[in-house]
Amino acid sequence: MYTEKTIKHFRNPKFAGEIKDADAVGEVGNMKCGDVMKMFLKVEDGVIKDIKFQTYGCIAAIASSDAMCELALGKTLDDALKITFKEVIKQLDDLPQIKFHCSVLGTAALKKAIENYKKKVSD
Ligand code: FES
Repeated sequence: MYTEKTIKHFRNPKFAGEIKDADAVGEVGNMKCGDVMKMFLKVEDGVIKDIKFQTYGCIAAIASSDAMCELALGKTLDDALKITFKEVIKQLDDLPQIKFHCSVLGTAALKKAIENYKKKVSD
């Protein structure tokens, strides 16, 4: 059902955890399954310098969030906002269609964290 890459990200998620002194946090819930995703960011000069996630989600949510963090690290906030769940699925070499909603959790939490960061710096 899952690709090797998906299993690899799930078994050894490099970006799982919390950033205690995060510059921004974004939290979203999945309407379909009720799972929750929290994304932590460290930002320097508009670039994502560190990123971590915490979730109560499933295998697909953990693997796709980890893959998404890999894509987002080192990107500017504006470029990171353009990451789509389809790119994340590509990064995993595919995901079963019934699990697509799980991969949306990560990108939605990232978007929320970036929005929160932008709000904070504009205040
Ligand atoms: Fe809830 Fe996958 S089933 S995130």
